[in-house]
Amino acid sequence: MNILLTGGAGFIGSNLAQYLLKTYPNDKVITFDKLTYAGNLESLKSVEGNSSHIFIKGDICDAPLVRKTFKDYDIDAVLHLAAESHVDRSILGPKEFIETNVMGTFTLLEEAKNAWGSGSENVFVNVSTDEVYGSLGKTGAFTELTPYAPNSPYSASKASADHLVRSYFHTFGLKVITTHCSNNYGAFQFPEKLIPVIILNALARKKLPIYGDGLNIRDWIHVLDHARGIDVALRSGKAGEVYNFGADAEWTNIDLVRFICSELDELRPATDTRPYSDLIEFVKDRPGHDQRYAIDSSKAKTELGWSPENDFKTAMRSTIKWYLDNLDWTERVKSGEYISYYAENYKDR
Ligand code: NAD
Ligand code: DAU
Repeated sequence: MNILLTGGAGFIGSNLAQYLLKTYPNDKVITFDKLTYAGNLESLKSVEGNSSHIFIKGDICDAPLVRKTFKDYDIDAVLHLAAESHVDRSILGPKEFIETNVMGTFTLLEEAKNAWGSGSENVFVNVSTDEVYGSLGKTGAFTELTPYAPNSPYSASKASADHLVRSYFHTFGLKVITTHCSNNYGAFQFPEKLIPVIILNALARKKLPIYGDGLNIRDWIHVLDHARGIDVALRSGKAGEVYNFGADAEWTNIDLVRFICSELDELRPATDTRPYSDLIEFVKDRPGHDQRYAIDSSKAKTELGWSPENDFKTAMRSTIKWYLDNLDWTERVKSGEYISYYAENYKDR
């Protein structure tokens, strides 16, 4: 297959590109990425020089370039991950979220439909999030039948994209599949999401900012389990269907941060010997902060034969070690465009 992977220089995309190229040496992966602040070619270093990998710097809203890419590389599958992905940024400035997540997805759908023509068996996988389902109470979990109730401009933009994707199946017969995943952790996550923020701030002995009372719950999955899920959805999923991926690892933010701190106390004890958890500080809550996410992945398990392979505590320990071993990566990706944004919006950190 010639696979168009959008957003392949981001966190999940770069892990997915590495996974696909290792697992399917006969497939070609065409990574298409705008290289925003969140996209870094350095995350794709391990596949540099691999003749099955092509990188194209481009914006998914650029219809002529997307059209040319379909034609030049005879694309026969799309894994669509390109997005503005950070909830906090969507609160500070939603416009780019609407442009990339809604208009960009629309552009890709149009170009796939036109390039493949009617009756094509080629598949378009739309990688979405559990956040489109809104917030849960104390019990229950999101299933594929949970009604949409997005609460942030980010989740609303992803929900809009999902609806467009669905409509291209029903109206035009485009073979689409949408996946919803819970919070990912692992190597190459951009250092403004919770886990890398905590690790890097702790090492720098800066405060560890916890929004609100820290009792919000996220359901964590290792990024490579998500990557395998996307791949199996592409190869074994049914067109028009939706699959949820999660790994049954619900943590309150405060417990998760305390766990990371205790791991760091062992792996990299602070020179003043004070526990890292001393740095925890409760800060102003995120507006519209969803209380709890939890995913029911029984459909993916029974219909796709997928299940997560990584145990949370073991894989989280490896993730912390990865950051400790790759501090130069974090420094480099935080340079440039990101620095000025951070200075302007997160002065107090
Ligand atoms: P990320 O922010 O790390 O990466 C996004 C990538 O998209 C970057 O490389 C960026 O340069 C690229 N991009 C942004 N705008 C673009 C545009 N207009 N044209 C082309 N490329 C563009 O995000 P991530 O965490 O890797 O998430 C990837 C996808 O998975 C997103 O669609 C996100 O909604 C979804 N998702 C993420 C999570 C998670 O926990 N991170 C969970 C579920 C779903
Ligand atoms: O659920 C899937 C989603 O997970 C994806 O769709 C998003 O792209 C991804 O960014 C992630 O969204 P979250 O908002 O859940 O992730 P984030 O790492 O920003 O925050 C995780 C939790 O930690 C959330 O409850 C907010 C809280 N938080 C976050 C930061 C950055 C803090 O308490 N302090 C922080 O500094």
